[in-house]
Amino acid sequence: SFAQSTLTLHTDQAETKINKEIYGHFAEHLGRCIYGGIYVGENSDISNTRGFRDDVIVALQEMDIPVLRWPGGCFGDTYHWKDGIGPKDERPSMVNIHWGGVTEDNSFGTHEFLDFCEIIGAEPYININVGSGTVREASEWVEYVTSSNVSPMTDLRKKNGREEPWDVKYWGIGNENWGCGGNMTPEYYADLYNRFASYCGGAQYKIAGGPNVADYNWMEVLMQKTMRHPHLVQGVSLHAYTFTTAWEDKGHATDFGEKEWISVLNNTLNMETLVNRHSTIMDKYDPAKRVGLIVDEWGNWFNVEEGTNPGFLYQQNTLRDALVAGINLNIFNNHADRVKMSNIAQTVNVLQSVILTKEDEMVLTPTYYVFKMYSVHQDATLIPANLKTDKYELDGKSVPTVHASASTKNGVVSITMCNLNPNKSETIEIEITGNDFASANGQIITSDKMNNYNDFGKQETVSLKDFEVAKPKNGKLTVELPSKSVVLVQLQ
Ligand code: AHR
Repeated sequence: SFAQSTLTLHTDQAETKINKEIYGHFAEHLGRCIYGGIYVGENSDISNTRGFRDDVIVALQEMDIPVLRWPGGCFGDTYHWKDGIGPKDERPSMVNIHWGGVTEDNSFGTHEFLDFCEIIGAEPYININVGSGTVREASEWVEYVTSSNVSPMTDLRKKNGREEPWDVKYWGIGNENWGCGGNMTPEYYADLYNRFASYCGGAQYKIAGGPNVADYNWMEVLMQKTMRHPHLVQGVSLHAYTFTTAWEDKGHATDFGEKEWISVLNNTLNMETLVNRHSTIMDKYDPAKRVGLIVDEWGNWFNVEEGTNPGFLYQQNTLRDALVAGINLNIFNNHADRVKMSNIAQTVNVLQSVILTKEDEMVLTPTYYVFKMYSVHQDATLIPANLKTDKYELDGKSVPTVHASASTKNGVVSITMCNLNPNKSETIEIEITGNDFASANGQIITSDKMNNYNDFGKQETVSLKDFEVAKPKNGKLTVELPSKSVVLVQLQ
């Protein structure tokens, strides 16, 4: 074959479900994510529904957001939920110690979050305070939200305007408890987790605060201690961000060249190693893969945009971010037997956002279009695939040219492919065993420059476009992937 890469899809072996929650998001009380980004209040001049921005609502609905994590992050272990319920003018304020030391007026609380989730059609995922909270607070929060019994907590909920309980499945117990969530040892945290989880019975799917990046000891200790009581744990989280070089040298979000391009892609590919190695540890204690690996914070973390509050973590988002999103989502798809949810950080105006806002203006980022394109994988069945591809190399770094995943749903096969090479197109031959498909169509995200981004008041330079593909012949299809692109091919 003349193709440079080949992808063989074993449709006959498709069996693992790609949970729609893999396409999840995260919204923290941080900078302008909640206030200004999602919530502007009923009295704002910006068009809103009960205080939530209408433009953001529509954008998230059209992206098909499946799940949203809240209220933190580091903020989560400072948050006392009872301060965020009841009449807004009576809610006490607090200082957001982790993020700029700003005053939080608690006008966006439990009711507002769950109302917002209902409007956008996302499953809520609530993260409970372990670092500075009590077991009682935690257990009462779960009761307040999920119980239909008669109790002081459910009476309080009804008094605050919500008669029926909410259906909240996902509950995180603590966040980064090795760091901002209390600087604990894994032994201490795992014991605390068991204690908190014991009193949060109404929380159906409980997620333990897992390791930072490659802290395999944290995973080992946590699994060993929590799996003594398997009913207490349904998921374990993993946090891993991508930097240009390292935490100490995060790099620029938009001003970069090819060296920084390959460096970011090379670093983000480490997610595959992390998922594999953490899964191996989980397999020891949970060979049936009942416990989900929940990658509830991931994405690019660059230096904050010049002139913005350093505590607000605001950064722009280029075509490079689209590649990073595409690669990671492919990795999560390919490991859908263990990865049950992921939440990119963070939805609006913080780190690798899908949406940026400035006053009443809104921008959809390249990352947004990847989530929109990849939404075809939500609740589809993973197709095991063999990929043979070249290397793209520069500056002592070497990455695969093509990165891919594939799924099937309702008779449609969806293949998402990234061409990591910013200079050259790549032909790929796709072979689909045991099937003949009559039609093929495609979509593409690319741009003429690797650091193009969408900006306020300007025409979009990176978006989702139709992409023409030839008809498959005898179960084979050859596609030319343009340089630096994310491509979807669908066959039926
Ligand atoms: O997403 C920003 C911060 O990164 C989160 O609050 C924290 O959990 C992580 O360190």
